[in-house]
Amino acid sequence: MSEQQSKRILVVDADDKSRAILVASLKPLGHHVTTAVDGQDALQKIVAEPPDMIILDVMMPRLDVMMPRMNGYEVVGRMKGHDENRFIPIVMVSGLKDEKARVAAFDAGVDDFLIKPVGRTELKARVGSLLKVKAYHDHVRSRHKKLEAEVEARTIQLQRAREKINLAARETILKLSRAAEYKDEETGAHILRMSHYAAAITRTLGLGDELAETILHVSPMHDIGKIGTPDSILFKPGPLDTDEREVMQQHTVVGGMILEGSDSDCIQMAEQIARCHHEKWDGTGYPRGLKGQEIPLESRIAALADFFDAVTSSRPYRKQPFTPAKASSMILEGRGTHFDPEVVDAFLKSEEVILSIRCRYQDRKDSRFNKRASEDSSMTVLGQ
Ligand SMILES: [Fe+2]
Repeated sequence: MSEQQSKRILVVDADDKSRAILVASLKPLGHHVTTAVDGQDALQKIVAEPPDMIILDVMMPRLDVMMPRMNGYEVVGRMKGHDENRFIPIVMVSGLKDEKARVAAFDAGVDDFLIKPVGRTELKARVGSLLKVKAYHDHVRSRHKKLEAEVEARTIQLQRAREKINLAARETILKLSRAAEYKDEETGAHILRMSHYAAAITRTLGLGDELAETILHVSPMHDIGKIGTPDSILFKPGPLDTDEREVMQQHTVVGGMILEGSDSDCIQMAEQIARCHHEKWDGTGYPRGLKGQEIPLESRIAALADFFDAVTSSRPYRKQPFTPAKASSMILEGRGTHFDPEVVDAFLKSEEVILSIRCRYQDRKDSRFNKRASEDSSMTVLGQ
């Protein structure tokens, strides 16, 4: 027998003579045979070096032995209840031609049952057959583990690729947001504040950290479409006429066009926000006059965040910004008309966080408020 075919067989029998007979029968078959004298001894050896097969005596407790020993059935139960060892075939041997013992052995999970004395030919046949089954199980399990490892490695690769793509998408968002700021530099702080407000409202709505984080990163692009607004309108110091207002409102459409067609979930959300952040709950907003839940939730959130920051910030067309308390009361007034009622409630519940964000991201003292900026957000409610 080649080394490859030689298997490890553990013989467990409390009786020295029986054990020796079994060992003597197995060794000529070319297997590496080890022995254990009781159940406890067997389990320790199985843990130390799992065998390919176990020949196990029933080992019923003897009346003349004071210390109870783990019998063969208990050993089988422990083995079959263990994930790693349950595929090791067990042949139980007994000196009793007892049908109940045989049934109990199979109930416990043994793979075969032999009556002592076991003939060498029969033992060779049974052992050979069960070792083949064991070898097949080992092959299948090994293949399964290999496949699991391949799937895990592939999953890690995909995760890394996804992380790289997400990073690239976020960088793109940042670059586009900077482009919008360059054109419409009302303040970088406005973009930071409104996106943090939107994230805070999202969390209060119970929509989870992941969505809040995404909204935080995509909200800065809400006014990206102002890249397409003529400077004569964007920077006009006085009120806009009807035609100019229509052109100004086109920044939502232009923003949507800039961002459309992306496979990235983040950019798709940014597109929705750019298109719909001036829609109103009651359908009187623009550009499409969407109503209620026709307006994407992230846009309803961004709309309120944008409005709050616009009215509480200094603007060239307004002597003083509104106080946060006044802005909150205006938002409450717009509950169910301008704004989604649930978003308003979440905003009001988030007041403490909102105020701390407002303190954290203040406008630079040298900011040039010479542009129309978020006029379209704040002035529609102010009636200008
Ligand atoms: Fe806007």
